[in-house]
Amino acid sequence: MKKVRIGSVGLGRLGYEHAKNIASMIPNAELGALCDVDEANLKKVANELGVSNIYIDFEKMCRRPDLDAIVIVSPSSLHPEQIKIAMENGKHVFCEKPLGVTVEACKDAEATVEAHPDLKFMLGFMRRFDPSYMNAKKRIENGDLGRIILIRGYSVDPISSIENTIAYGPHSGGQFLDMAVHDIDLIRWLTGSEPDRIWALGGCYEFEEFASWNDGDNVSCTMQLKDDTMAFIFAGRAAPHGSHVETEIIGTKGAIRISPVPTPDLNVYYDEHGVRQEAYQDFMMRWQQAYINEITEFCDCIIEDRTPPVSVYDGTATTRIAYRCKESFESGSKLLSMD
Ligand SMILES: NC(=O)c1ccc[n+]([C@@H]2O[C@H](COP(=O)([O-])OP(=O)(O)OC[C@H]3O[C@@H](n4cnc5c(N)ncnc54)[C@H](O)[C@@H]3O)[C@@H](O)[C@H]2O)c1
Repeated sequence: MKKVRIGSVGLGRLGYEHAKNIASMIPNAELGALCDVDEANLKKVANELGVSNIYIDFEKMCRRPDLDAIVIVSPSSLHPEQIKIAMENGKHVFCEKPLGVTVEACKDAEATVEAHPDLKFMLGFMRRFDPSYMNAKKRIENGDLGRIILIRGYSVDPISSIENTIAYGPHSGGQFLDMAVHDIDLIRWLTGSEPDRIWALGGCYEFEEFASWNDGDNVSCTMQLKDDTMAFIFAGRAAPHGSHVETEIIGTKGAIRISPVPTPDLNVYYDEHGVRQEAYQDFMMRWQQAYINEITEFCDCIIEDRTPPVSVYDGTATTRIAYRCKESFESGSKLLSMD
């Protein structure tokens, strides 16, 4: 089988994970080059993964003729420009979410992708590639839930990582763009519909620092979709129990709850605290398989000449909705139309 030879940029929290997966967990991929501006970390990761082609300059990596594709896991604000550089050098692109940190930047990325119809582009909304979410989507399409009434998305980071979260916060684009964007994507994907009206709430309930970049440590948004489905999302940064992403889909014939108990194993502990299960402590562990599946699918799309299932337009749409949520939150929770 042909392998897609990949150059990967950004070797931080998630970039390191993607690089490890490409190097050893994805059968149709090979890791041909690495890029990061942090030279010490770049050398360390390259050494660990046995990669000899390393770059501080992204454009130089993209000029390598032996690379088929670029995986972008750099800070979100760099995505549109790096997509452009990669595609202008003839590379297929997988880019982490969000597509860009403004709607205008997303439009620039759309223009780049449209200018290169011969190249594949895929955005990293990995929840769509998690086996439980894939199963739920199939059941919805099969009509098992009847008409969808409400989707509830719940995404919280653990308090154990609050220092990192606060350090990353000012550059993240805020909770709606950085975190809730995954739930926004799920709502669009699971219903096939788009938000019509939105009403966002939130505040600093524990960590006032979030207010200094106009964000909240806990935020939420209620939406009415164009097909009248109701949706509710909650995003938090300091859950005492762990890293928890849960989605509930309520239909006229039944409901599905995906991961109401966010536990990595089947063990139930009986001790002085009572009867309990342990929770995931980081998102990496929860989405391990989904991260592998999404890059595998990206490579398959290149090899089989198929259109990738998450498009540049999904990136713009989710960013636009996230900003509208942010606008509602910042305006003191005005009810806003998406038009
Ligand atoms: N899908 C998910 O579940 C998920 C989870 C976490 C992060 N992300 C996304 O992944 C991206 C990276 O997030 P992270 O948490 O790994 O960030 P990070 O800050 O941990 O890592 C970013 C890396 O990019 C490097 N970098 C910065 N500027 C660069 C440049 N000009 N050229 C090359 N390298 C450069 C930094 O040195 C760092 O190693 C973000 O867009 C984020 O939204 C997605």
